[in-house]
Amino acid sequence: MQHVLRFTEEVNLNLTTAKGCMLYDDHGTAYLDLEAGTWSAALGHNHPAVNQTIQAQLVKISHLGTRYPNQTVEQAAQDVLSITDMPDGQCIFLSSGSEAVEFAVQSARRIAARPLQLCLSNTYLAAYGSSLAKESTQWVILDWKACETCSRTGSSCATCPTLTNLPIDQIGTFVFESGSFSGQVKFPPQALISEIASQIKQNDGLIVVNEITTGMGRTGKWFGYQHYNLQPDLVAIGKGLGNGYPVSAVAVTAKTAEALKKSSFLYAQSHQNDPLGAAVASTVIRTMQEEDTLAHCAAVGTFLKQQLEKLKTDFPIIQQVRGRGLLIGLEFVSPEAAEAVYTQLFQRGFLCGFKKASPMLRFFPPLTIQESELLPLFQALNDIFAVLSDGFSATQPKS
Ligand SMILES: Cc1ncc(COP(=O)(O)O)c(C=O)c1O
Repeated sequence: MQHVLRFTEEVNLNLTTAKGCMLYDDHGTAYLDLEAGTWSAALGHNHPAVNQTIQAQLVKISHLGTRYPNQTVEQAAQDVLSITDMPDGQCIFLSSGSEAVEFAVQSARRIAARPLQLCLSNTYLAAYGSSLAKESTQWVILDWKACETCSRTGSSCATCPTLTNLPIDQIGTFVFESGSFSGQVKFPPQALISEIASQIKQNDGLIVVNEITTGMGRTGKWFGYQHYNLQPDLVAIGKGLGNGYPVSAVAVTAKTAEALKKSSFLYAQSHQNDPLGAAVASTVIRTMQEEDTLAHCAAVGTFLKQQLEKLKTDFPIIQQVRGRGLLIGLEFVSPEAAEAVYTQLFQRGFLCGFKKASPMLRFFPPLTIQESELLPLFQALNDIFAVLSDGFSATQPKS
């Protein structure tokens, strides 16, 4: 165990098996996985359809040179394009979310009229590359903090200095991520995003959407951008697409694909368009359609949010509940309060998202989770808050 290099604090737990929303340690103790691994096991761990697909495809062909067409990969491309509303477009399969975003960002930079790219502050794009570094020569970062609490709506965004100060005529691409914001779980106002998207389009710009976290049904729709009034040119998809298997994808419109082929853009990477990952992606999409996972996610997400809101009215230790579908963040009065709740939840067998020094706990369970599986969580939170709440107030974290 000590030989594994990690950049997160190691949890003293030896998880050996998983099924649905549950993880089990080497003593058989069960834990409710409210993070779906890294928010990737959208259909739950060990989904039989995904397992069967991996086994069947593995004995046919798993990996292939990049020049050779394969019917499984072609079918998967059509499946992804059908859910991104780009039936005439094209799709590339890659391995991770970071790779998909970096591919989309670099592609857009190559073909956009202007190389400068725009994103909102705190947008997390990828673990490496130009998407992580965001050098000021390549990126304009829009500080949208004031927009979070702005009460003006609609067309007033167009005349607001937040937008009028943007050098929109110098920007070639808007890279939009609609709900994670470096783990803060935030949802930018529709009016703001519609206005930016429309100005970008008027200036012949491109729109890239990063759907690594928000895609594949997580927000109750196939993609987070579908809560906004915009048509993307490139869609980067990861996490839930493979249900834990490392496959990601970038879907592009026909016009974008054409422009990429005419440009000098070249992408060479060993595992692009591998049949095994593509087969998994097709199965995940088909299973979500057959099981009506999006509607289920929207309904259970509403239920989870309502229950957390109820707890908030009883316990002022909670500052805010934010959520869309099953992408839910609970903001506490202080990072200390969040850590205390996280620790107690862990001791009771609930694994949720938490980063040290952050006031947030995050809930991203498998989209297949049932209301009945969440009931013990509400009881646990109620019991924990009943004891902890007095020790924490909005201004005075417990020392
Ligand atoms: C919003 C967002 N974009 C991109 C990524 C990168 O994806 P991956 O970790 O699969 O490389 C992540 C990962 O958490 C993410 O949350």
